[in-house]
Amino acid sequence: MYSNKNDGPRRGRSFDSMNIGFDEKLLNNELNRSTFKKIEENGEKNTSEKARATIIFSLKNEVGGLVKALKLFQENHVNLVHIESRKSKRRNSEFEIFVDCDSNHEQLNEIIQLLQKNVSVLDMEPLDNSCLHKEDMGGAPWFPKRISDLDNCANRVLMYGSELDADHPGFKDNVYRKRRKYFADLAMSHKHGDPIPRIEFTEEEVKTWGVVYRELNKLYPTYACREYLKNLPLLSKYCDFREDNIPQLEDVSRFLRERTGFTIRPVAGYLSPRDFLAGLAFRVFHCTQYVRHSSEPLYTPEPDTCHELLGHVPLLAEPSFAQFSQEIGLASLGASDDSVQKLATCYFFTVEFGLCKQEGQLRAYGAGLLSSISEA
Ligand SMILES: [Fe+2]
Repeated sequence: MYSNKNDGPRRGRSFDSMNIGFDEKLLNNELNRSTFKKIEENGEKNTSEKARATIIFSLKNEVGGLVKALKLFQENHVNLVHIESRKSKRRNSEFEIFVDCDSNHEQLNEIIQLLQKNVSVLDMEPLDNSCLHKEDMGGAPWFPKRISDLDNCANRVLMYGSELDADHPGFKDNVYRKRRKYFADLAMSHKHGDPIPRIEFTEEEVKTWGVVYRELNKLYPTYACREYLKNLPLLSKYCDFREDNIPQLEDVSRFLRERTGFTIRPVAGYLSPRDFLAGLAFRVFHCTQYVRHSSEPLYTPEPDTCHELLGHVPLLAEPSFAQFSQEIGLASLGASDDSVQKLATCYFFTVEFGLCKQEGQLRAYGAGLLSSISEA
């Protein structure tokens, strides 16, 4: 799934929405208004040999720790384009900081070395210069060349899956938010070739899925396209699509691989259109694994596993549709931002909300229509 919001909805604003419990909260405004802005201004001076990297490092829960770390970026003129914090799963007393940064190769290498001396660096993507997100090939943006390169962009989510907007049905439900974080962490640790973890869904999640499944199945014979109606029974047969069972992504991925060569990769939250479309080029579909909030089973403001499984998967099992999806993805590799946006719009009005005419009747093939009663 990807975010189709042009302005990059969370970038540069993440501290506002983070649920953090130490000095960062107090520093929030100051960082956004002064320190953070200066870092961006300074970073603009370095235009040669552009490179991008994602770094995750941990900080002890002590006053001023984050400021010290961010100063390293400022002093080295590294432009931070996205930053988030979360409580460490490894050590209770620590927080993990996720940063996406733009700079040039030299400064990026310097900041990585400095960080390694000053804080505990947990992960870096890309890890070395050979796969830095540089503008190479005559100015074309970096793009994955191998399916395993998707490891470098699948975690560059525009938001963590547990950070919900205030108008999200689950915003005030701490149990739901905790569950969302569990799914986000699973997806963030996924690497190419790993089996997708099997989920023990809660009774409430199965019930929510059951409502969606039951209500939509009443509408499919009348409104879904013939390819959908052909493939859905196969998914019931081979992947346990049932009202009382949420299918496992691993089973679905194996089924799709046999049918059309598509595989599924779990994702923690919204990807940029570029990263999402890059997956399609390798016949990889990024799927959420969490279930929408139980208070509104018939509508979700964001994709969830009901949307992926009931909306996208039956069409991804169709060879012609799989080919179309891959071709949009292939066209996006190395394309300009403007072209990627056009391809994302094409994707949005076809794969997400497409209608076709079959035997004189309008039928849905868009996943947004096929997975949400209120949407239709
Ligand atoms: Fe979708």
